[in-house]
Amino acid sequence: MSTSVGASVSRKDGYLKVTGRARYAADHPVKQVAHAVAVKSTIAKGRITAIDSSRAEEAPGFLAIIHHGNVQTLHRPQNDFMSATKPGEDRVVFEDDRVHYVGQYVALVVAESLEQARYAADRVTVSYAAERPAIATDTAMDTAYDPGEFFGEKLTMTRGNPDAAFSAAAVTLDASYTTPTEHHNPMEPSASMAEWNGDDLTLYETTQWVAGARKTVAQTLGMSEKKIHIISPFIGGGFGCKGFVWPHSVLSAIAAKKIGRPVKFNLTRKDMFSACGHRSETAQRVRLGAQADGTLVAIQHDSLVQTSPVDEFIEPCGVTTRFLYSCPNVRVAHRAVRVNIATPTPMRAPGESPGLFALESALDELACKLNLDPVELRVVNHADTNEHARLPWSSKYLKECYQVGAERFGWAKRDPQPRSMRDGKLLVGWGMATATYPGIRSPGAAKVRILRDGTVEVISATQDMGGGTYTTMTQIVADVTGIPVERIRPALGDSDLPPAPVSGGSMTTASILPASRKAAQQAVKKLVAVARSLPDSPFAGRSEDEIIPANGRLSLKDSPHVNMTYEEVMRLSNQTVVEGEGSTSPGAERQKYAFQSFGAQFVEVTVDPEIARVNVSRVVSVFDVGRIINTKTARSQGYSGVIMGIGMALMEHTVYDPRDGSIVTGNLADYAIPVNADVHSIDIQFIDKPDPFIDPDGLGARGCGEITITGVAPAIANAVYHATGTRVRDLPITPDQLLGT
Ligand code: MOS
Repeated sequence: MSTSVGASVSRKDGYLKVTGRARYAADHPVKQVAHAVAVKSTIAKGRITAIDSSRAEEAPGFLAIIHHGNVQTLHRPQNDFMSATKPGEDRVVFEDDRVHYVGQYVALVVAESLEQARYAADRVTVSYAAERPAIATDTAMDTAYDPGEFFGEKLTMTRGNPDAAFSAAAVTLDASYTTPTEHHNPMEPSASMAEWNGDDLTLYETTQWVAGARKTVAQTLGMSEKKIHIISPFIGGGFGCKGFVWPHSVLSAIAAKKIGRPVKFNLTRKDMFSACGHRSETAQRVRLGAQADGTLVAIQHDSLVQTSPVDEFIEPCGVTTRFLYSCPNVRVAHRAVRVNIATPTPMRAPGESPGLFALESALDELACKLNLDPVELRVVNHADTNEHARLPWSSKYLKECYQVGAERFGWAKRDPQPRSMRDGKLLVGWGMATATYPGIRSPGAAKVRILRDGTVEVISATQDMGGGTYTTMTQIVADVTGIPVERIRPALGDSDLPPAPVSGGSMTTASILPASRKAAQQAVKKLVAVARSLPDSPFAGRSEDEIIPANGRLSLKDSPHVNMTYEEVMRLSNQTVVEGEGSTSPGAERQKYAFQSFGAQFVEVTVDPEIARVNVSRVVSVFDVGRIINTKTARSQGYSGVIMGIGMALMEHTVYDPRDGSIVTGNLADYAIPVNADVHSIDIQFIDKPDPFIDPDGLGARGCGEITITGVAPAIANAVYHATGTRVRDLPITPDQLLGT
């Protein structure tokens, strides 16, 4: 079977994972490791007045307790994403006696075993002077402000005159939507294990960004980043909560320093609900004005989100609205309130996911008012250029996505009348939505090493949180070297390797694969030079470009029987390694084109009218994400995004007690996510046309991690409306909102 770019290749790391040999952060066999357990605030706002650790210190196996009263000096890092110093929270852990949210770390207890650490931590008594917290958005409106920018993007903009256009429009829609707080809940909770060797620190981490972890921890501890080694070879999902650097990565290091032994801090599932970010709840108002034929004349999208007292992260709901549809009059605005809840962070398609729930629900409502097919309404308003950036798209096949999706789904058979389609006693609904996510790219580097035994290594300080980076890196190098994937070893998740960006923003593929390819090309070129210079070389007198790599050999292009294996070249030349380096970065193309991925997501739901239960019986998703490197891992991204979208639409909801900020649903029993019984037919398709401008080397892949979730929740909500006639504007769509329909 072909392993070339575009083929369906099984995971390079699959065998290690299914046999339990893949080492996640907490699994590394570090000798003499002690265990840390956090003591967390039980109040949402106030001061710590006393920490009594006397009973903890008597507990068996107790080694140390660290808190604001005895912590070593820590420094706030620069807190700048672009320079890879991005903590999850600006406030440094144990900075002072202030408490800002329930679950904030107030002490760390270290003991010989995990059980002993938990027992000792339970025996720490923390006294507080509590103040009245603001938990619910409506109680924090006095703090509301305009956050201005989000990672360099202006969050507020106006094009044309949306007020006048709205007033004059033939048909208008004005609707408000809400989405709840959500937590990422990756399979693997975050963990950090620290080991000091003199002044050198090794951190076994669960991080989407080894480079960011190294710099941020270095600045926090006030040490040189050269002294820090971050190791994160396997990550059990991240979805954004392992992107920035959260306090545990510093805590393990200072605890290990304090006791002079390695320390492991493995977060509990409950810790994950306050210690590594979440998606803020959102309240969004969308106003649309259209002509009778559906042409949009006005769009206004106002968002109100939450952020924390100790850093700022803004869920940028309206960013996509600036350009998703063609419209001369657009206004997008965001406001944020500060509540006593931990700091939000990116969660799979931050902005797009909740933003498209509002916008794409509103489009569906408008289609109903206009008596227009929802697909037709979107085609009528297709944006041929990016009207916000005023740039042409690098490539865009959204119309094809609608068309292919509609055909595969059978959309033409839809009766637009709500409650018109049934399957026995079940109501059947069909809905759809547009999906989108930017085509981001960052500077990245890789090395390719041809070894003496003819095997090849490809290395980069990128990460694989489950998306398939190990595998796609290998495929790229296999294509260039002609060495089969079995004989190529990828290495990543190590800060000592060539630098790479965060595995976030769906940017890994477009950043790392072109670099890997360049590195492989350079390594082959060097090997060819070595082969030509051998005494009695079969390639003597032949030029470089007459010699091609294929099937594990270098061969003469015009007479393939004249060839040498890689191993022969290495042995005869007495080389131990031939190494190529490659790096790529975004360039002038970014000023010439807008890079954006698109998709169309079609959903069938059945609703049992007696118990108001919604079942997502069928999903068809078609994405234009440039070239597909590996159809298998790309399709898996599609499945996972759709499944996560089912969770977003029907289940996920972090509930805070509005009185005291305690987390009501801080476990996987009360925070529901989809299980196999919730997942039925999912059809993932890709247009698979290379983006001609995304990387100058012509690979043409834009990445596909996040777009896959973006249209799911609105498509489900639209299908629920079609099934029941009830428009649910507040996620998650729960039976109580549908009872009696
Ligand atoms: Mo992502 S939310 O950029 O890991």
